[in-house]
Amino acid sequence: MESPFKTDILQGKVALVTGGGSGIGFEISRQFGKHGAAVAIMGRRRQVLEAAVHVLNSQGIHAIYFEGDVRKHEDAARVVQSTVKHFGRLDILVNAAAGNFLTSPEDLSPNGFKTVLDIDSVGTYTMCFEALKYLKKGGEGKGPSAGGVILNISATLHYTATWYQIHSSAAKAAVDSITRSLALEWGTDYEIRVNGIAPGPIQNTLGVEKLSTEETRRNILKDIPIFRWGEKWDIAMAALYLASDAGKFVNGATIVVDGGIWLCRPRGIPKEEVKLISRSVEKNSRESSAALPNSKL
Ligand code: COA
Repeated sequence: MESPFKTDILQGKVALVTGGGSGIGFEISRQFGKHGAAVAIMGRRRQVLEAAVHVLNSQGIHAIYFEGDVRKHEDAARVVQSTVKHFGRLDILVNAAAGNFLTSPEDLSPNGFKTVLDIDSVGTYTMCFEALKYLKKGGEGKGPSAGGVILNISATLHYTATWYQIHSSAAKAAVDSITRSLALEWGTDYEIRVNGIAPGPIQNTLGVEKLSTEETRRNILKDIPIFRWGEKWDIAMAALYLASDAGKFVNGATIVVDGGIWLCRPRGIPKEEVKLISRSVEKNSRESSAALPNSKL
């Protein structure tokens, strides 16, 4: 699908994308590259990263990979520094690395809970912490003159509560909170914009594969208001908007890109019945209050 954005909106920018070797992180990397950015991707699996960079390069994108685990502070520091060493600067950090699986709380050890928080929440914070000196206005390297951009990939799991997702819900709630706090503090002090994207179910991703069954995948289409699966492209377009000057006045927002699915509730009463019930209830209540002497109700 063609991008509606001009192909130079990220010209001259350097982006670092954690979890950029596959899924949503890869598509964000690809679209950033197609819109002018040089891209470094970070992940744990060398083969996946190698293959990803091969595809990016074959599409004319200036891309490189660095192996690393966002849970390890030394990896985060090394990858951020290597990115700046290689490309000379850092303008955009995307925290897309995440870990998840389905589990009931009673089957989830405290270490399992901690593992997901370590990847999603602590990992996001650690990467932001290490990237600050390069992302801030006039930062090290050639430094962004106007301050850089951080994008945190979140979820909608914690807006209500989601079955078998206690760990990831808690982790993403923390991510959203980090987004707002850094938007306030680093927006004010360093002119860094910090935003998030909360994707809904996105087809052909490990997330959907790991977190649903064939039956739930079939049923989900009934629930999405605009009746289609999300695509990685949808998330990448939101990322382009937020990372480019199109989003220059957006700070501290987590944009939900899910077709409205998180709002879904069972309809309960059919539409035709609502008209009948609603009018008759009003009529009845008017008649009964009129019958009351001196009633102002
Ligand atoms: N159910 C319950 N607990 C689980 C689990 C599951 N399906 N998978 C792992 N755990 C627990 C482990 O039992 C362990 O806890 P313990 O030491 O008390 O037994 C803890 O989580 C860590 O597991 P481990 O396999 O050692 O972690 P890891 O670092 O190798 O892998 C994961 C991290 C578990 C998050 C793994 O799923 C992963 O690497 N995911 C990355 C990709 C991904 O999930 N993407 C989806 C994005 S939506």
